[in-house]
Amino acid sequence: MRTVQYRSAENLNDRIQLHKRFTTSNQGWEDFVFSHLPQLNGKRLLALGCGNAIQWRVNRQRFAADAEIILTDLSEGMLQEARAGLVGDVRFTFRCMDATRLDFEDASFDVVTANHMLYHVPDIASTLAESARVLKSDGVMMTATNGANHMADLDGLLAEFWHAFEGTNTMSERFNLQNGAKQLHEWFSAVEKRLYSGDLWVTEAQALVDYAFSMPRVQQLIPSEQKEAMHVFFQARIDRLGGIQIRKETGLFLASQPKKAQRK
Ligand SMILES: C[S@@+](CC[C@H](N)C(=O)[O-])C[C@H]1O[C@@H](n2cnc3c(N)ncnc32)[C@H](O)[C@@H]1O
Repeated sequence: MRTVQYRSAENLNDRIQLHKRFTTSNQGWEDFVFSHLPQLNGKRLLALGCGNAIQWRVNRQRFAADAEIILTDLSEGMLQEARAGLVGDVRFTFRCMDATRLDFEDASFDVVTANHMLYHVPDIASTLAESARVLKSDGVMMTATNGANHMADLDGLLAEFWHAFEGTNTMSERFNLQNGAKQLHEWFSAVEKRLYSGDLWVTEAQALVDYAFSMPRVQQLIPSEQKEAMHVFFQARIDRLGGIQIRKETGLFLASQPKKAQRK
């Protein structure tokens, strides 16, 4: 399901658009990410599961001229979009690579990022072990993820619309804001959590329908012929209340002091 979901950047773009257009925060997510990255002067950064590289594109002007940024992803489709957005910028290189097995030397990076991707990886422990291995002893790993209650309001509405859709969105449950620190501590001596503040106030039904149908669970459980009915359902609520509130729970971990890890 993950391979299909991320073959191209389309599903991810639908999700990013909703967060961008309807956020209640005055700090954009990419700015939040940037504000927690160390200065990259003369530094080497490895991004795992970089997706369409939005974090790197949006912050492009803010990275040091002599930074070396290596963007990797398992999906060629994602890398294509990442590359297209950063054409001609010599600081960036792109590699198709599985995050569980990194083709890099020990202690060769100052920063590793694995943002909103670890919960997709079948073997999270190997990915963290590999990240600790390729990081220098004073390096930092950033892992952004969601919390167990992230977008639960949308799950509730979808269950109301389609009864077979019940329970919570489980996409990030294998590595989330609640259980991530424990997993990171296996490979890093120091782990800190930073929470992003901001929810969604959505005033356009179609944006919510697009978001919903970008989610694997919705694609599995709700037939696509229901898109129009779902639009009517969301629109009725927007007409009644002026908008739909969806609370978010998202943030990141900063892990440092990597423990010695053996190459697999
Ligand atoms: C939700 S996207 C996150 C993209 C980006 N890091 C961001 O925060 O905007 C998850 C990405 O992880 C990639 N991915 C999933 N499993 C992977 C693996 N085993 N190795 C490398 N990348 C993987 C997917 O192809 C997808 O691009």
